[in-house]
Amino acid sequence: MAMTAKHLAGSLASVVALVASASVAADDTPVTTQIVDALNKVYGVHPGFRANHAKGVVAVGSFKAAPGAARLSRSPLFDGRTIPVTVRFSDSGGLPDVPDGSGGANPHGMAIKFHLPGGTDTDMVINSLKFFPVASGEEFRDLLLAISQSPPNAPKPTKFDQFMASHPSAPKAFSTVSTPDSFADEQYYGIDAFVFVSKDGHKQAVRYIMVPEKVVHLTPAEADKKAPNFLVDDLPKRIDRKPVMFHLKAQLAAPGDQTKDPSQPWPDTRKVVELGVLTLNKPASDSLAAQKKLLFMPTQLTDGIELSDDTLPVVRAGAYTVSFARRQ
Ligand code: HEM
Repeated sequence: MAMTAKHLAGSLASVVALVASASVAADDTPVTTQIVDALNKVYGVHPGFRANHAKGVVAVGSFKAAPGAARLSRSPLFDGRTIPVTVRFSDSGGLPDVPDGSGGANPHGMAIKFHLPGGTDTDMVINSLKFFPVASGEEFRDLLLAISQSPPNAPKPTKFDQFMASHPSAPKAFSTVSTPDSFADEQYYGIDAFVFVSKDGHKQAVRYIMVPEKVVHLTPAEADKKAPNFLVDDLPKRIDRKPVMFHLKAQLAAPGDQTKDPSQPWPDTRKVVELGVLTLNKPASDSLAAQKKLLFMPTQLTDGIELSDDTLPVVRAGAYTVSFARRQ
């Protein structure tokens, strides 16, 4: 199901309100627009395609919550009903023809639209980085600008080298990704913290993890030898052979864990609980047409799931809206 004009109007109104409170640059261009402009500088403008995660493939299926999920959140997502989903897997970057096995296609993305009873949707937009390279939208813009100012012939250390040296979480984050042998054999992370609210009002900060049946990563040499569209071509074939399954899990913050900074993961020892099973059983009949109409928003939430003090989802939603408007 594509985002309807009504849904979009609702999302746009809430994003405009949220972004109004987000930071504005000295030249009054909102940081969200500056980010999309910076993405266009790095990758060029490709009409009709996303400014980031331009290449992807769509499938549909369903989600069924595990019994314990409803104890953590009163969201209708977790009330045990079978919820239809639309999912788009993607390569990173703004190049619609990036080779799937290239380093630039990492991290790979998974965006999920859960079609809730009553006709509303809630979205999860996650990727294969274990944590984000930077803490804020401004820093992400600066990272993109540093990349755009560091062509192969730039004097060393380049602006990109300097950015990496002054932001230690960036090289650490990039070292957590590699190319999978299939979009179905990758683990995806929510990165941003959200807050679950239970029926009795108890709040618990969580970060999502989407766990596949198995993780299979290629070495860079193996990835280099793959056909340019091997991931995008593989997914429909896999689903035709056998439904593709993932377990949606939540890593639970312990009291005192910070939720503000998406570049700082919580310790691996934090409890992880099962939220439910996502099953993909049908490739989209016309993936290219389907993905053009889709807009996934990290701020499209339901009762029982709230934003935390992490500001990134709001900045992201603003940038996604700018990108969506430009690609229509
Ligand atoms: C400041 C931080 C970020 C910015 C500015 C940003 C920007 C963007 C933009 C402009 C798009 C294209 C949206 C569209 O045209 O629909 C996009 C897509 C995407 N982003 Fe981000 N992003 C950020 C952080 C993240 C993070 C933390 C994740 C994962 C947790 C993520 C995962 C994705 C995915 C999976 C897509 C593809 C969505 C789709 O399939 O439609 N991004 N991003």
